[in-house]
Amino acid sequence: MWSTLLVLYLLFAPQIHSVQWCYQNLYLLDEMCSEPSQWVKEFPVCGGQKQSPINIVTSKARHDPNLSSIIFEGYTEAINVTVQNFGNSGAVLVLPPSVRIRGGDLPATYKAIQLHFHWGVDHASGSEHTINGEQYAMELHIVHIKEQYNSLKEAKNDTVGIAVLGFFYEVSTKENQKFNQVIEAFGRIPYPGNISTIPEFRLTDILPSLEKLSSYYRYMGSLTTPGCDEAIIWTVFQETFPISQQQVDNINKQMWFDVGIPMTANFRPVQKINGRIVYKSRACCSTSSGSVILCLSLLYIVVLFESILM
Ligand SMILES: *[C@@H]1O[C@H](CO)[C@@H](O)[C@H](O)[C@H]1NC(C)=O
Ligand SMILES: *[C@@H]1O[C@H](CO)[C@@H](O)[C@H](O)[C@H]1NC(C)=O
Ligand SMILES: *[C@@H]1O[C@H](CO)[C@@H](O)[C@H](O)[C@H]1NC(C)=O
Ligand SMILES: *[C@@H]1O[C@H](CO)[C@@H](O)[C@H](O)[C@H]1NC(C)=O
Ligand SMILES: [Zn+2]
Repeated sequence: MWSTLLVLYLLFAPQIHSVQWCYQNLYLLDEMCSEPSQWVKEFPVCGGQKQSPINIVTSKARHDPNLSSIIFEGYTEAINVTVQNFGNSGAVLVLPPSVRIRGGDLPATYKAIQLHFHWGVDHASGSEHTINGEQYAMELHIVHIKEQYNSLKEAKNDTVGIAVLGFFYEVSTKENQKFNQVIEAFGRIPYPGNISTIPEFRLTDILPSLEKLSSYYRYMGSLTTPGCDEAIIWTVFQETFPISQQQVDNINKQMWFDVGIPMTANFRPVQKINGRIVYKSRACCSTSSGSVILCLSLLYIVVLFESILM
């Protein structure tokens, strides 16, 4: 009798004491999990001073000419990638170390380990970072670690051990055919633990053209899921990737956090900036050609007036 109770206790005690972390949406359905504002109870670093995501206020971003264009390696190669549903943290595409980035004032060469997406319940929300308060429909994160490390765990130990590239997905009227391979793959992994593959996948299929990526924002932050380790050099690109409303809706319908609970709104709310500076790249950020022309014509009028007065 007592030994049976002891066995039962040992089996269930861990589940009773450690609460799973989750996003707000799941918490509303199932109050058994800990939502973003409570992550800090179990993961103290989630309450740190350099947390991500943040709202980027473009007028406050400081120009840094050292932030040259990033050099992308392996981004155009066809690769066979594994895609896995991890439940509360979403779906991940595993990337090979032949995919690398350097330049752009990064302190080392970083190799890719995985990519994943954050999305909302409709196209009005979804991204983690916001630009001047605007949230995009989706955000893609490509996670890289310093080449010398063998795992994310090792890289977290280094304050600049991880480099994440963030890309915004914006709703457009046209469907983006190349994105359908990701939607289809997500359809094959509806439940936590399910695994599939995407053959002959190219990163450039799901990114804005590499030539348009010289404008970006840079700041020091954290992982946006627990333990929220403050070990990330963030690079958030200005150029967005267009997908259709239908494609955003389809992504929302493919996967489940758990049986019966759709995987939606898997984004963390923006965190306090706490005096951090957001830098913008050498080429950042294009103003519309219209305002340049307006500026030039005003200058011309001023010069004209001065020459008349002389
Ligand atoms: C650019 O790099 C140089 C040399 O590393 C450094 O001295 C300078 O402070 C950097 N500029 C900015 C704006 O960070
Ligand atoms: C991807 O998988 C296919 C079929 O299994 C194989 O023929 C091909 O060589 C693989 N490509 C790479 C880059 O591994
Ligand atoms: C983290 O860094 C410390 C000190 O450099 C080292 O002793 C430890 O083994 C490292 N941990 C991991 C997981 O790499
Ligand atoms: C996906 O996961 C569910 C739930 O664990 C399982 O029942 C199902 O067999 C899995 N499907 C595949 C294709 O692995
Ligand atoms: Zn992410």
